[in-house]
This record gives sequence, C-alpha cells and structure tokens, in this order.
Amino acid sequence: MRDDELVEEARGAARRSYSPYSGFRVGAALVADDGRVFVGANVENAAYPVSSCAEATAVNFAVAQGVRKIETLAVACIDAATLEDAYPCGRCRQIMAEFDVERILVTTGSGEVREHTLDELLPHRFRLR
Ligand code: THU
Repeated sequence: MRDDELVEEARGAARRSYSPYSGFRVGAALVADDGRVFVGANVENAAYPVSSCAEATAVNFAVAQGVRKIETLAVACIDAATLEDAYPCGRCRQIMAEFDVERILVTTGSGEVREHTLDELLPHRFRLR
C-alpha cells in the first residue's frame, strides 16, 4: 500500500474513534511485513487511564492476528478545531519498538506528512535481549 493510501486509512480510522471525553480523534494504520494492513482508533473510557491510544489499538490488533514485524505505521488526527501534529505518545513509541516499526508517518496540523524512524522518536529505547 502506498504511503498516501495508508495515511487515508489512518484518517478513516480516526473518524471511527470513540473519544467522547477528549474530543480528540486519532487514527492509526499500519502495514505488516507480510503486507497486511491493520487500523486502530483511540478508544476512551469513563475511567480515563483505561483508554487506549490509536497506535496501541492498531498494533495490538495486528499482533493478535499473528503479526510480529511492522514496516510502516501512519498516525492522523482529524479535528480541525484542535488539530495537532499527530506525534505518538511515549507509551505508543515503546509499543511500536517491540515490533520494530521501521517507518512512522506523522500527519501535521498543516496537512504535511513527516516520515520518522524509531531511532528519531525513541532513542536509547528499552529492549530485553
Ligand atoms: N492519543 C492517541 O490515540 N495517540 C497518541 O499517541 C496520543 C493521544 C489519544 C488518547 C486520548 O484518547 C486522546 O488522544 C487525547 O489524549
């Protein structure tokens, strides 16, 4: 799948976000090493810390379908009123590190797509050898 198509998948997932508490809709879409595509959205909970970020939802779903290596993950948030650069939170960066995400596509508030590596977003990350 092309990068722009993956970003559109992430935007589509963000439209399905369950985020009544923050009103901040985030979507993620990833391509696994076998070419399969998985999406996720943030899913909030009345007990706030129970909520799941979009990236975690997508990665955990992919892993449950047998994925162990992720090539590219795109993140997007879609609410113009609060539009931010969709940089993954620290916890999601660590979740991505577990499955060696090679490329991370971050959509910015101005609509630009920035490509990053995990080395850029989470240097000196924790691993068990
Ligand atoms: N959120 C994500 O889905 N991904 C991130 O990387 C950062 C934050 C969600 C969590 C919560 O539902 C909302 O955005 C506001 O923090």
